[in-house]
Amino acid sequence: MKNLDCQSASEIVLFGALGDLSRRKLLPALYQLEVSSLIHPDSRIVAVARQSIDLKELTALVVENLTNFVSETIDEAVLARFISRLVYQSLDFKDTDSYKQLAQTLSEGNKTRVYYFSTPPAIYGDICDGLHHADLITAADRVVMEKPIGHSLESSKDINDQVSRYFKENQIYRIDHYLGKETVLNLLVLRFANSLFTTNWDRNSVDHVQITVAESVGIEGRWGFYDEAGQMRDMVQNHLLQILSLLAMEPPADLSADSVRAEKLKVIKALTPIDKHNVKEKTVRGQYSDGYLEGVAVPGYLNEEGANENSNTETFVAIKAEIENWRWAGVPFYLRTGKRMPKKHSEIVVHFKQQPHNIFKDSYSDLPANKLTIRLQPDEGVELQMMNKIPGIASQMNIQENKLDLSFSETYDNERVVDAYERLMLEILNGNQSLFVSRDEVEAAWTWADSIIDAWKSTNEQPKPYPAGSWGPVSSISLIARDDRQWVE
Ligand code: BG6
Repeated sequence: MKNLDCQSASEIVLFGALGDLSRRKLLPALYQLEVSSLIHPDSRIVAVARQSIDLKELTALVVENLTNFVSETIDEAVLARFISRLVYQSLDFKDTDSYKQLAQTLSEGNKTRVYYFSTPPAIYGDICDGLHHADLITAADRVVMEKPIGHSLESSKDINDQVSRYFKENQIYRIDHYLGKETVLNLLVLRFANSLFTTNWDRNSVDHVQITVAESVGIEGRWGFYDEAGQMRDMVQNHLLQILSLLAMEPPADLSADSVRAEKLKVIKALTPIDKHNVKEKTVRGQYSDGYLEGVAVPGYLNEEGANENSNTETFVAIKAEIENWRWAGVPFYLRTGKRMPKKHSEIVVHFKQQPHNIFKDSYSDLPANKLTIRLQPDEGVELQMMNKIPGIASQMNIQENKLDLSFSETYDNERVVDAYERLMLEILNGNQSLFVSRDEVEAAWTWADSIIDAWKSTNEQPKPYPAGSWGPVSSISLIARDDRQWVE
């Protein structure tokens, strides 16, 4: 058994345990922690859902899910241990009295309860009321909330208010699963464990930054949810702003939740507001139309199953974001994210400034600037493009652009890429909030995102079509080309 000093025995209560997220991500993540002996031996997993099933049926479902969603072969001994932790409780989330049954299911004694809300946010408040009614909340318990937290600043405040009637901020874990990704966490190491980047990380050295989070998938049968959200609420308000803030924040004093979150918050608050006066110049919204992915025809957004053919929800967003502070004044951060793009491909490219004077004109008339590429997924790694002399004798100095490539899969042989949820689940069990988003961050991010969404509405900005399988609408190329720059493809 690993050293679990920082973890007490818990009741991990999964609300919405039979839903998609729980089946695809949460149960496999807990299973992987079991494989690594990182769950306290006395902890239990209490699956809660509306359906009336018994433990035998739950077990069969869990085994089926693990077989489908865990990429390694399931270890029978670990599986047996994992299953022995399972308990099922059916519950009508809106009926406060039915929480009394949950109270009977939860063991007595002093286990920490971790309430994981893997349900639509609209019922977070009902669950909290029910738990309170059944006297199931103590100061030691934790609550985990999935994004999206709300649909706007106002609705996020409502949800946070409902939850904070019963839980204090230090008990609330707001998930943004990008913060659990290996490569996103590596941003902290890259920036703050390498003196090279602590000194060359500001407006004096950096020309601009590009952040691309492209997905080849469409909306995967989630039309109802997605059409209400769109790419701005689903991806930019949370994942992209979190990446941006880790990339741009000042060095935190330490890795504690308070220090890291305070620095991220300052970045989000310093973003230049985008409103109806500058929205056309700074943003592009797109929506995919019929197209091809890897040679296979795929339907456009409006032809997806369940679609409302008049929808003007965006499935692509590009933004020229700017941060108004001493470090970043004048350095644009170009963000771009979309569904049905040619491939799943997320990366950050930091473009450094060109040398002020070129002494190698004979060989290179326009000396390229250095570029640092951080490949978030897939093919995780870090790559630095630099100039090098081509070996050999010649009358002039011949130089060439080469790259230093740190590929994680080649460098860390045999290391499985840990899923974000696995890491985040462990942090929750250990009571560490650093990788979770504070209420202030969520609200600052909504303030910025809402202003863009409102501006699109008030200027009647319709999404521009782009064929599925392309890199987005042509105007996203113009967005960056206007500044004499281009997207790295
Ligand atoms: C989720 C979004 O938060 O992130 C999805 O709701 C998106 O629309 C997903 O597909 C992308 O996550 P990942 O880990 O596959 O990049």
